Amino acid sequence: MKLLSKKVTCNSHGQDSSYFLGWQEYEKNPYDEVRNPRGIIQMGLAENQLCFDLLESWLAQNPDAVGFKKNGESIFKELALFQDYHGLRAFKNALVEFMSEIRGNKVKFDSDNLVLTAGATSANETLMFCLADPGDAFLLPTPYYPGFDRDLKWRTGVEIVPIQCRSSNGFRITGSALEEAYQEAERRNLKVKGVLVTNPSNPLGITLSLHELNLLVNFITAKGIHLISDEIYSGIVFKSPGFMSIMEVLMNKKYMNTQIWNQIHIVYSLSKDLGIPGFRVGAIYSNNEMVVSAATKMSSFGLVSSQTQYLLSVMLSDKVFTENYVSENRKRLKHRQQMLIRGLRNVGIGCLESNAGLFCWVDMRHLLSSNTFEAEIEIWKKIIYEVGLNISPGSSCHCSEPESVERIHGGDYGTEGHDKEANNGEVDGIGGEEEDNVVFENIHVGGEASGNGVDGSPDVEKAELMPSEGIDECDLTMVRS
Ligand SMILES: Cc1ncc(COP(=O)(O)O)c(C=O)c1O
Repeated sequence: MKLLSKKVTCNSHGQDSSYFLGWQEYEKNPYDEVRNPRGIIQMGLAENQLCFDLLESWLAQNPDAVGFKKNGESIFKELALFQDYHGLRAFKNALVEFMSEIRGNKVKFDSDNLVLTAGATSANETLMFCLADPGDAFLLPTPYYPGFDRDLKWRTGVEIVPIQCRSSNGFRITGSALEEAYQEAERRNLKVKGVLVTNPSNPLGITLSLHELNLLVNFITAKGIHLISDEIYSGIVFKSPGFMSIMEVLMNKKYMNTQIWNQIHIVYSLSKDLGIPGFRVGAIYSNNEMVVSAATKMSSFGLVSSQTQYLLSVMLSDKVFTENYVSENRKRLKHRQQMLIRGLRNVGIGCLESNAGLFCWVDMRHLLSSNTFEAEIEIWKKIIYEVGLNISPGSSCHCSEPESVERIHGGDYGTEGHDKEANNGEVDGIGGEEEDNVVFENIHVGGEASGNGVDGSPDVEKAELMPSEGIDECDLTMVRS
């Protein structure tokens, strides 16, 4: 160990979190309808597999784009040699158009302000490098995406200070919570460089209200700090209230070319809206020239391959395809979310009302044996090992409340037939008699078509959490914070 760097041996990566441990358990024993029907179903991963038929049919109809051809001529050599870290102009133009489209064309983006990165993971880390020094802090509302511990802190040395949001107001951001987090950072002698929000939220599956967006803008203006808005789920808002991008707020306030205009940055990616996390396509959008210039240089460490850029530039320029894709994707997610909520309600589990993303924040406090984090982990272990579902406990999202808060990701349900028996779906202490405490969970709603049986008995069974037509991937991750 002594031969290795401190970075490698420190534990700020968050690898020990139940979020990552659940993934590891799934890897060891993945569910397969035929080969491993008693395996674990991955519901702790925010994957959107609902519209692969649309993507694949587009690919079949556009062989030139797939075969590195343009107007019938091969451009293989051009693509193989391309290594400009500014990215392909055609792709950047198509991506900003797509970003505008999913925001109802209320915001126009300039492709000169866009930096391509290998996914939102890389975009968030790059922004940390641009905006903060080791030991500086960013404030994040809780509960937050467990991957942020790795993405924001690990290699940069930046600290996260939580903005404690509570179930009593549906985890909404308040002025006092922002101020308390700022003071907490000061108490710890940390210099606050900004606030990072996800809008729509991972793991809550809700969009920020105009009131919250205004609060954030006023707060960062008063403190003279940055705001990063991770809008990776902006294309999958399927119910009212709708989504408002931070850029729209600034435009409505006519803040263009003011100081605040330079302090706000958007993170985006095609991992969720287009369901292609394996392609590693992300972006930073900033009106701050210095940030764009520095991030462009840093993007050398995580470029998007030129053949991916080429393929997607053709796909995203096809407006008939994108319009149909976006609306169909929203429709299918909404349908699936409704089935999931209904199924959970049938087994006595309530959820935070959500309108976006791939999650369901589930209240399972009544299933806890005691009002402790240990009890939450206990129930999480039962769900993963006895029921066979990997979900994320609320604690892995740094949820602040002492009551057990759980989270069920609607991640990878695979394909068909998730109505497996799973020890008959019966887990001691789950779904039986009601207990006093309450837990929230977050459930992902984004997988492919699954097996049967949302309607069912009071026991929590895989079958019951997997509606027959819509919910293919549901990551049930219980996190207790
Ligand atoms: C809020 C948020 N930001 C960033 C990421 C990382 O996305 P990517 O696959 O584009 O790196 C995720 C993935 O789940 C996420 O939920």
